[in-house]
Amino acid sequence: MTAEEQAALVQLGQTYLYPNYRQPPLVLVRGEGRRLWDGAGKCYLDLYAGIAVTALGHAHPDVVQAIRAQAERLSHVANYFYNEPNVLLARDLCQRTGYARAFFCNSGTEAIEALLKLARRHFYAQGQAQRYHVIAFERSFHGRTMGALAATGQAGYREGFGPLAGVIHVPFGDLEAVAARLDDSVAAVLVEPVQGEGGVLPAPGGFLSQLRGLTSARGALLLGDEIQTGVGRTGRFLGFEHAGVQPDAIALAKGLGGGFPIGAMLCQKHLEGALPPGSHGSTFGGNPLASAVARAVLQRIDADGLIERARDSGAYLGERLAELVRRHPKSTETSRGVGLLRALVLNPVVDARKVLEALRNAGVLLTVAGGTALRFSPALNIEKSEIDEGIALVDTVLDGIDREL
Ligand SMILES: Cc1ncc(COP(=O)(O)O)c(C=O)c1O
Repeated sequence: MTAEEQAALVQLGQTYLYPNYRQPPLVLVRGEGRRLWDGAGKCYLDLYAGIAVTALGHAHPDVVQAIRAQAERLSHVANYFYNEPNVLLARDLCQRTGYARAFFCNSGTEAIEALLKLARRHFYAQGQAQRYHVIAFERSFHGRTMGALAATGQAGYREGFGPLAGVIHVPFGDLEAVAARLDDSVAAVLVEPVQGEGGVLPAPGGFLSQLRGLTSARGALLLGDEIQTGVGRTGRFLGFEHAGVQPDAIALAKGLGGGFPIGAMLCQKHLEGALPPGSHGSTFGGNPLASAVARAVLQRIDADGLIERARDSGAYLGERLAELVRRHPKSTETSRGVGLLRALVLNPVVDARKVLEALRNAGVLLTVAGGTALRFSPALNIEKSEIDEGIALVDTVLDGIDREL
């Protein structure tokens, strides 16, 4: 593709694509490892990994091979029958996490829908249909379908889509607020171990285990949204592992497919009867192709010790971000995060979108979360030299921003 062809394609996109995204005028045409190329041949260091998705980087040979081999054999059968990669993926995930059952879908928001339906149906089956509310948290993000959106605690995503009923929002980290609302109309508490879209906000120390204690004591379920934090991103397979807490059920997606769409709901044994045959399903969910790719991703994560590596390189990234905060007291406020899910928080007077654009021009791709947090969510196999390269580019861009402040 030439620069002219790229411009023409952007034009077509602006004409025909539904304009619900704010896409810059470039087309990404190729990726390899932690690098992406646009249609004009410009190369970018990828520090966002498709929003914490491409866990092995781009075009990883294992992912390519898994797609090719499974597509040649069997791509789709729907859930009228078992298929081998799906059964084996369910076993792998359950054995690894201690959950009893896995349900598969195609995205994060669908995995959240499965959690919400699981919780309601569980109490319905026990003759407690009045127990249907969910407590979720301010600044949370759980997805865009109506149920997941109802759970999402950010006005910007919800505006104009009401009524969004059945969810009570309380401040993140406020156990007393949860306790005050957790009566016998509440089926579950839904929580991210680190609020990703909210601005990379880790749960305060002790909060997740206190939630576990409270929900158990009051007979409600604890539901974990591990869509952004799961599959090694925080330096453990699940983000909840840092707190030594096992929710009754969790949602996974993003990194699980390494770039191939897949979502999953994992639950404990006591919930295996909550969604009987016919009560929930998905035509594409659990398809052999997605399942085979997810197995390949998990196997490579283990073979290369990528969870330990995410812990190690995450700590290194954390140090380098703290250094940037010290060097740029005008344009930055703080840094935070866990493993390879981290944020450099900008001073609110800085236009975060402009920073992203300057970074893109400098050759590094990042995202903004929560309005002011530059979010770093690179592939789990990122090299320290690539972290250094990214930090140097951010440093230079912030020098420019500082001069304007
Ligand atoms: C914590 C969390 N939950 C749910 C979702 C929704 O996932 P998806 O966009 O795959 O529907 C996201 C996506 O960013 C997320 O970060």
